Amino acid sequence: MALEPPTLDDGRQLWALARISDLDVNSPYAYVLWCRDFAATSLVARDSTGTIRGFVTGYVRPDAPDTYFLWQVAVDPAFRGRRLARRMLDRISSCITERGIRYLEATVTPGNTASRALFASFARARSAALSWTPLFDRGHFPAELPEQHEPEDLVRIGPLR
Ligand SMILES: CC(C)(COP(=O)(O)OP(=O)(O)OC[C@H]1O[C@@H](n2cnc3c(N)ncnc32)[C@H](O)[C@@H]1OP(=O)(O)O)[C@@H](O)C(=O)NCCC(=O)NCCS
Repeated sequence: MALEPPTLDDGRQLWALARISDLDVNSPYAYVLWCRDFAATSLVARDSTGTIRGFVTGYVRPDAPDTYFLWQVAVDPAFRGRRLARRMLDRISSCITERGIRYLEATVTPGNTASRALFASFARARSAALSWTPLFDRGHFPAELPEQHEPEDLVRIGPLR
């Protein structure tokens, strides 16, 4: 599996993978835009046929240049449990620490066991501190949604070396 920054042509596949990954799916436009403007802080895992089996999207926080915010991480359901997400986090972590970034943040819903285990595993391997704090509660999201959005807890990991 080749790990590399996304290209503009990958936006479609990111959206499609988000749809089958049980993620909060953003608009197709958001993924295409991401591949244009945040490719340097994002990553895709491409198999030998060119199909994307996993991705990480993220950005350096404008108000906290020492902090990388990991927006979404997803692995194709057929490729889970093979440490692909860990490989992607390790690679993105190497890229950002080279740029002087020392903290990784993400938000996770309380019931997302796999994602919580992923960040805990990553922090442990890096011997980095990990903290969880509530960030967005239900009231931050539109009440008009057919299903109320779950709260999102902030995980902060670092300092990374
Ligand atoms: C979260 C996700 C990316 C993990 O991908 P993955 O490639 O299967 O994860 P890995 O194989 O690299 O496992 C990494 C760690 O998480 C643990 N883990 C992975 N899936 C797990 C599960 N369902 N339950 C418990 N632990 C799990 C692994 O045991 C491993 O921990 P360890 O090092 O202590 O053994 C994948 O389940 C996914 O795409 N989920 C849907 C999208 C999502 O919720 N994304 C996160 C919110 S943005």
